[in-house]
Amino acid sequence: KEIISFGVGDPDLPTPEHIVKACCEAAKKPENHRYPSYEGMLEFREAVAERCKRDYGLSLDPEREIIALIGSKEGIHNFPFAFVNPGDYVLYPDPGYPVYKTSAIFACAKPYAMPLKKENNFLPDLDKIPSEVARKAKIMWINYPNNPTSAIATKDFYREVIDFAQDYNIIVASDEAYSKMTFDDYKAPSFLEVEGAYEVGIVFDSLSKTYNMTGWRIAYAFGNEKIVNGLKKVKTNVDSGVSQIIQEAAIVALTSSQDCIRETLKIYQTRRDLLYSGLRELGLKCEKPKATFYLWVEVPEGKGSIEFATELLDKAGVVCTPGVGFGEHGEGFVRFALTQNEEKIKKALKKMREVM
Ligand SMILES: Cc1ncc(COP(=O)(O)O)c(C=O)c1O
Repeated sequence: KEIISFGVGDPDLPTPEHIVKACCEAAKKPENHRYPSYEGMLEFREAVAERCKRDYGLSLDPEREIIALIGSKEGIHNFPFAFVNPGDYVLYPDPGYPVYKTSAIFACAKPYAMPLKKENNFLPDLDKIPSEVARKAKIMWINYPNNPTSAIATKDFYREVIDFAQDYNIIVASDEAYSKMTFDDYKAPSFLEVEGAYEVGIVFDSLSKTYNMTGWRIAYAFGNEKIVNGLKKVKTNVDSGVSQIIQEAAIVALTSSQDCIRETLKIYQTRRDLLYSGLRELGLKCEKPKATFYLWVEVPEGKGSIEFATELLDKAGVVCTPGVGFGEHGEGFVRFALTQNEEKIKKALKKMREVM
């Protein structure tokens, strides 16, 4: 039986040709066959600085305020090791990208879940964090545009986060892996654009989703010099940097025309509209996402998210991810990733219609 999977957030579209070509050229250069620098090539960090200037109006020092990462997952994992002592709290969104919680545990910190609830537009309610937890917290993870809920954040929310972080002396780590994956003329602000963010914050961004480069493993972090430097110190002891071959391709991705992103987004937007209206016709509730390539869909009343996902798989051959897989507060939802083409989406909807 045919299985159509909306399970994994891995783009099915290829990396744009000009980026692949740059990689092939870079592979021929002997200087790229040696160990790279820990913090990334200066040219790569300059390309990131230029991108941040154009996209957010930020003026970053590429030498001290930007670091290359072997995918943002690597940076997210290593980050707590720079800043927590055993027993400190790490605040993380639930549902959320699982690595925030597991990296806290690896670093002997105590993960503390901030529930993302529908009635609060999937933003954490900072007033609900007990002050004794906040006082012992070192890091707060935020992630907008959000995986898995596809929620977006306003600058007002970011201002609240900055106030909270200043009150309790907490580092804000803003994971912006989906910052460029936006629809309907929506443009996602960066946390670092907001006044006061630099004092408390670091941003993680990635080429994975923006340029269909999940398999290349390249990302970057930017922000407060001291915070960036903490991460750099940990990494110096853990890995030996991103391959220069990949960095050279990434420079081309960041500095050449961004039309390829627009092309990709057009495809995702068509898929989004198709899947969204199809699921609504089936009586399922979800918001039409302004960003990310996820649909966060409410499970029909009386069912659990694992039960519903299993039913869809068994009866219709359609894979979605149970919300509870992203944390206990993800219960009641399932996530669909827009990583199937239109034909497959139509087929999946037809099969679902037959069994629901
Ligand atoms: C919210 C979020 N952050 C980070 C990552 C990791 O991305 P990468 O390591 O490919 O940069 C993902 C991947 O799915 C993600 O969903």
